[in-house]
Amino acid sequence: MTRTVASIIGGVPQREAPGGRLTVPNPADLSETVAEVLLGDAGTFVDACRAARAAHPGWASVPAPVRGRAIQQLGRLVEENLEALSQLLTREIGKPIAESRGEVQEVIDTCNFFLGEGRRLYGQTIPSEMSDKQLFTFRTPVGVAAIITAGNFPVAVPSWYLVPALLCGNAVVWKPAEYTPATAEAFAQLFLHAGFPAGAFNVVLVDGAATFAGLERALDEHLVDKVGFTGSTDVGRRIGELCGRYLQSPCLELGGKNPLVVMPDADLDLAVEGALFSGFGTAGQRCTSLGIAIVHADIHDDFMARYDKAVLEAPIGDPTEDVVYGPMISERFLDRFLTWLELIRPHHRVSGSTGIGRITSDNPRAGFVGDPDAGLFCHPTVVDGVTIDDELYSTETFGPIVAVASFDTFDEAMDLANGHGYGLSSSIYTRDPLHAFRFRERVSAGMVSVNNSTSGAEAHLPFGGNGKSGNGSRQSGIWVLDQFTRWQAMNWDYSGHLQKAQMDVADIDADLGFRLSDRPRD
Ligand code: UN1
Repeated sequence: MTRTVASIIGGVPQREAPGGRLTVPNPADLSETVAEVLLGDAGTFVDACRAARAAHPGWASVPAPVRGRAIQQLGRLVEENLEALSQLLTREIGKPIAESRGEVQEVIDTCNFFLGEGRRLYGQTIPSEMSDKQLFTFRTPVGVAAIITAGNFPVAVPSWYLVPALLCGNAVVWKPAEYTPATAEAFAQLFLHAGFPAGAFNVVLVDGAATFAGLERALDEHLVDKVGFTGSTDVGRRIGELCGRYLQSPCLELGGKNPLVVMPDADLDLAVEGALFSGFGTAGQRCTSLGIAIVHADIHDDFMARYDKAVLEAPIGDPTEDVVYGPMISERFLDRFLTWLELIRPHHRVSGSTGIGRITSDNPRAGFVGDPDAGLFCHPTVVDGVTIDDELYSTETFGPIVAVASFDTFDEAMDLANGHGYGLSSSIYTRDPLHAFRFRERVSAGMVSVNNSTSGAEAHLPFGGNGKSGNGSRQSGIWVLDQFTRWQAMNWDYSGHLQKAQMDVADIDADLGFRLSDRPRD
């Protein structure tokens, strides 16, 4: 079934396609069209920001607990529609159905967390340095938030922005990835049925270039107060520069080269299981996917023998079946993946499959589930012998490819874990608490797993990275509140006369000349 989808501004679907039309196929079965998209242009983006600006004061004046109720209704609607949304997600980006259900669950978890935040959104009362005066802090909404998200998590990651932004009293314009319009439109329908006023939630389907142009215009017209962006480091840099011009600091969630260190005392089977899911779950297309396994020389060969076997035997194929991964999200992801394979050098040892590159009937994968020629499937690729000087080491590879390096000392492991400059997620497999805590202390990543996958963060812990992975902003849990509210400080003097801070303050008389001595006290 093909859906025709379009931007929705102020609750009204847009009927024109000033940005052209786009056809989105099912990446697991290219003969099936999932959506026809009426693309907007830069003007569409600006119009949506204008609608959000107009709706903002009304929504901000709704008491926060009532806004929390709208989040609760949204969570219920998502729960009621979990299966339909998961199926659509799998059809549109080829995520294995179990993972799609997990992703939709992450939206529900996010709603469950933030519906209660509507009854908190705490400020503080703080004593003043003067009597008859009281100090307070309040969280105030930022205004209009423009949220630009990637397609590998087409509902969970957007919900990390949209749910807290709305809860905090902001109006939002959401720009999902062009290659997930059907899932985005379905998710948008759930927002529109949850009770948010028209204009508080808008969705625009526009391509990257038009989004950037629209964002620039909207910032220039003071229609946007906060930008949230999940995507590549390069685009994040451009968005950061643009926002900086308007004295804004965006919430940026960018790429990663997430390390997984295997210490000699690790439970190797557990490490292999973790490295399999981290590296190849979602076909390696998570920003938390494993980039480089860093394995102690003493256990390297043993680990590799087990890892090779696990990757070779992993079921890959039809995402409606029980597979480790399905197709690449879209043609663009496949093409980029093939270019990363060109970074493999003669000193590397390649394993993981019965071929390399795209899986087809001419380049088959033993044990493939389904028809490889129907979709955009790729062989899992393990590249051993990677060194810190290799291009493969310093490049984020968003696909089913895992680099492996070995080390002798803990310092070497840390150099490999941090040297690429990314800092999103990380993992260490060890039985020794000393190694676990040393790793936590020294790794540059914003997220650390011990004896667990680099991916699979829970929805109420701070999510975000450092270095090339972001600008230090954090999503999820209470931490994201600082992205979508501003602190306002208030003081109230009820003394009836002007009391000057720092000047009209009572002092404490202390005898500072007093010294302890051996003499008995009087
Ligand atoms: C992403 O790939 O942008 O932690 C987010 C995880 C998921 C979210 C990934 N919960 O792997």
